[in-house]
Amino acid sequence: AAEEGGGKNLKVPQIHLPPRLSNPGVGWEHHHRATTQFVHGHLSRMKANGDPTKYLVSNTDEWKILDEHKEEIDEIHLRDLLQDSERSGAMYAEHDGVYLDFSRQRATLETLDLLEDLAEKQELTQKIKAMMTGEKINFTEKRAVLHTALRADRTEKVYVDGKNVVEEVHEVLDQIKTFTEGVRSGSIRGYTGKRLRNIISVGIGGSYLGPEFLHEVLKTEPEGINSALGYDLRFLANVDPVDVERTCADLDPEETLIVIVSKTFTTAETMLNARTMRQWLWDFMGNDKEVVRKHIVACASTSATEKVKDFGIDTDKYFFRFWDWVGGRYSVCSAAGALPISLLYGFNLFEKFLKGAQSIDKHFATAPFRENIPMIMGMLGVWNHSFLNYKTRTTLPYAEALLKLPSHIQQLDMESNGKTMTKFGVEANYNVGEIDFGEPGTNGQHSFFQLLHMGQPVPCDFIGFCQSQHDLCLDGESFSSHDELMANFFAQPDALANGKTADEVRAEGISEEDIPHRVFKGNRPSMSLLLPKLTAYAAGQLLAIYEHRTAVQGFIWDINSFDQWGVELGKKLAIDVKNHLQEARNSDDHVIEASNPASSRILNYYV
Ligand code: F6P
Repeated sequence: AAEEGGGKNLKVPQIHLPPRLSNPGVGWEHHHRATTQFVHGHLSRMKANGDPTKYLVSNTDEWKILDEHKEEIDEIHLRDLLQDSERSGAMYAEHDGVYLDFSRQRATLETLDLLEDLAEKQELTQKIKAMMTGEKINFTEKRAVLHTALRADRTEKVYVDGKNVVEEVHEVLDQIKTFTEGVRSGSIRGYTGKRLRNIISVGIGGSYLGPEFLHEVLKTEPEGINSALGYDLRFLANVDPVDVERTCADLDPEETLIVIVSKTFTTAETMLNARTMRQWLWDFMGNDKEVVRKHIVACASTSATEKVKDFGIDTDKYFFRFWDWVGGRYSVCSAAGALPISLLYGFNLFEKFLKGAQSIDKHFATAPFRENIPMIMGMLGVWNHSFLNYKTRTTLPYAEALLKLPSHIQQLDMESNGKTMTKFGVEANYNVGEIDFGEPGTNGQHSFFQLLHMGQPVPCDFIGFCQSQHDLCLDGESFSSHDELMANFFAQPDALANGKTADEVRAEGISEEDIPHRVFKGNRPSMSLLLPKLTAYAAGQLLAIYEHRTAVQGFIWDINSFDQWGVELGKKLAIDVKNHLQEARNSDDHVIEASNPASSRILNYYV
């Protein structure tokens, strides 16, 4: 480990650590079924040895050393760390145009070494390999987690229950290509023979946020603009009837194709919106089952096929399947994203998005720790949250076209890691799962940045691009609007790290009385991702980086990042209330008696 932090000696216990692996060597080409059995191995050891709390990662030597190391880091200001050129020269990673600068993290080169030790102790590379090769690592649902297979080349092989899933993925991609080209060429038309030019994608959560993020990226991307000419894509997610009104008020149903995206095909909000859209079509074109067969398509899991058929959809031609090994929040690369996006922008552009994600998958599987962008981001996430105790973090894209990325990350990360139960069946006694929020810059600077600079410290991810999708330069000015935007992208991380001392404020001529209000403590961590340009490919890269960051953190914390029992509960809770409301609607004098007086009172007030 490099000697950092002003030459101070670390007060860490003398614990022997195994030598580091410099290359994870997951091996992208390595496609046989993984044999690590990392979940079951731990569980059987646990049963044999009694008290499961002793298996918590916080009891490992590697974790304890990091805990001690944190005290050392608390003594060092980022302002000083940033002056160390050896450190800055080592605290960046680069892959396929993506440049990650993590020198503004409250970490030294020694911190990185210790995080690498922790990653090794937690068998991070084996867990990544298990995920990518189809081991059933979603152990509460007994499912594989294979969103990486959704962007694998046709020639790759990944097996689940003896089936090569990549072959199935490409069957569906081919089906989507043919169908979307048919719609876009006019060979596939609506019930009355009109061209299908409007697409309404009905879905919620993971069946909505990822595709919407990608749609927003492509909306202003030159290739996207050209491909979308003459077409319109809208998303209907909320069960609020106002969302229906806003989505389809000005559309001609005869020219509209409804895409129902729901893995389970049971989600209450989506199914109500789907029925509403079906009714809307019938109201205009007559109550004929052919109307549904020509205007409604479905993207759903294979296990929902019967439900899709019962809805009236033509499951031979208008059903685009995905599989139970694709989690909802990881489904943007499946038919859930492929179909609506290809209908609007053409299949070729969607393929570029897949290629961008695939590039990061390969990097994640094979790059050494210090060069591995998602691994570094994930391990620093663990460092910030579990050791430095930052409970929140923010995503700040300096690109308006990424306006929906923070919402997507919010679900991706908070639904994945918003848990406390470990795989050992005992609760974590360390921080797990950050609160994520964000907003594009510079807008955010004029709303919540006050808190980032002077309130609670929040680790920030700045995301920027060397070139704009559309730059503007006024006559006679050499500095473009994109340069203006990016000047802020570069300035903010330094301001957060360095802060401003009382002396610096005084030197500006501020009165003694006002100085305390203008001092910035600084020492606020951030990292910066810089990419060449926001294209479909770059969007794929960003998506995969954040998906893998989440997985890394879950693997280290020993939680299952791939189930979502909390939201499943929420889905059922509304049923009781719906029953109460229905009873009240069916009679004039029914008084609701809910499970407690406060609920009874507010429900009776509502009806
Ligand atoms: O909100 C919970 C959730 O289960 C998400 O994980 C999922 O993306 C969303 O609901 C939608 O589910 P479905 O695609 O089955 O309609």
